[in-house]
Amino acid sequence: MVKIMIKVLLVGGGGREDAIARSITRSGGELYSFMKNENPSIIRNSRDYRIGDELDHSTILNYALEKNIDIAFVSPDPVLDTPLVDSLTAKGIAVASPNQSAARIETSKEYMRNLLLEHNIPGNIDYRIFKDYEEMACYVRKSDDEYAIKPIGLTGGKGVRVMGEQIGSRDEAISYGDEVIKRNGEVLVEKKVTGEEFSLQVYSDGAHISPMPIVQDYKRAFEGDKGPNTGGMGSISDHDGLLPIVKKAAVEQAKGILQKVVDAMREDGNPFRGVMYGQFMQAPDGAKIIEINSRFGDPEGMNVLTLLEDDFTEVLFGIAGGNLKTSHNYMKKATVLKYIVPDGYGISPMPGELEVDPESENDAFRIYYSAVSGSMQKVKMSSSRSLALIGIADSIPEASDIVESKLGSIHGKYSMRHDIGTREFLKKKMEKVS
Ligand code: GLY
Repeated sequence: MVKIMIKVLLVGGGGREDAIARSITRSGGELYSFMKNENPSIIRNSRDYRIGDELDHSTILNYALEKNIDIAFVSPDPVLDTPLVDSLTAKGIAVASPNQSAARIETSKEYMRNLLLEHNIPGNIDYRIFKDYEEMACYVRKSDDEYAIKPIGLTGGKGVRVMGEQIGSRDEAISYGDEVIKRNGEVLVEKKVTGEEFSLQVYSDGAHISPMPIVQDYKRAFEGDKGPNTGGMGSISDHDGLLPIVKKAAVEQAKGILQKVVDAMREDGNPFRGVMYGQFMQAPDGAKIIEINSRFGDPEGMNVLTLLEDDFTEVLFGIAGGNLKTSHNYMKKATVLKYIVPDGYGISPMPGELEVDPESENDAFRIYYSAVSGSMQKVKMSSSRSLALIGIADSIPEASDIVESKLGSIHGKYSMRHDIGTREFLKKKMEKVS
């Protein structure tokens, strides 16, 4: 019998997309990739690939038509903010990603906060949007509350500044708010919430959700959660799909909140089909929404895809076809991911070359290739993150030990956070929450 291969188009060329690419090929999909960098691992897994501008939606559409693609997965947030998904759908190609309008749940924090408010969805936090400097300055000055100052649109995870963290004083908060208004015409001022952060990613077909194991990611560039915010330096998940530092009740609330968001978007005629990723804070009065994204987290997507036991291509068809299963199977293992980045990453990156031994990968260790080019063995770094190393074990510290024990397979000048997932690191976190 001739096996008919499903042709899957993947847009994006980072470490997260490398994990997606491997999930597609592992489930028997024939991979076609469009990306801006020659990611050697994605290329190795692809039947065919094209390098180009990921924002050039007409070229990607033509590529999909030329290759008779059956289903597409559009991964990076800037690409979801183009008409690509709508134009693929208009040509009859199934897509397991949100269209530009539904992606506003991430690309417009104003849309997201207003949706929560209008539908009375729990987990919202006090917020105001200002276009006028005087009004913003007066609001921030008149109370003792601390605030997070955020641009409305996409910032690659680097535009948010929080009082007591990146902002040292009320005057500094006002001056950053002024900078954002001058640049973007408006600014979002949210009341600061404190607590333990966690990421909940779910698949959604516009009506149902299928929650994935929760993950915690670490954005600060340096060990001990110090230094500037980055796209993320690493992440952890535990064998039971929960985390010792996050209460099960907060996770259940978070699942309920994302289901309500999916329901509200459908009721408003803007259904969300794809991966929705909520970044939550476990506050004393319950789970609060810090952000909602319209894609897998980077790095968080790599933790969960590494553990997924079900057929990923089937998940994609479930999303696109509106018949998604509401739960999927994951290995009962912990994961620790540590990113290898160029020296100076987050401040003034100095990309060089890395020598990698891909043969060091095994059932307990993966190397996902990120914003790099070159070959599997000789990797050319860019100024962004380079390699995501994941250990898979029965516990978080053991998964961290695996990553550390495999560092001999990577040579070159790089930085990484060794502390993520270690016993000492978890102990400090547990002390903080108890
Ligand atoms: N983990 C941060 C992000 O994906 O936006």
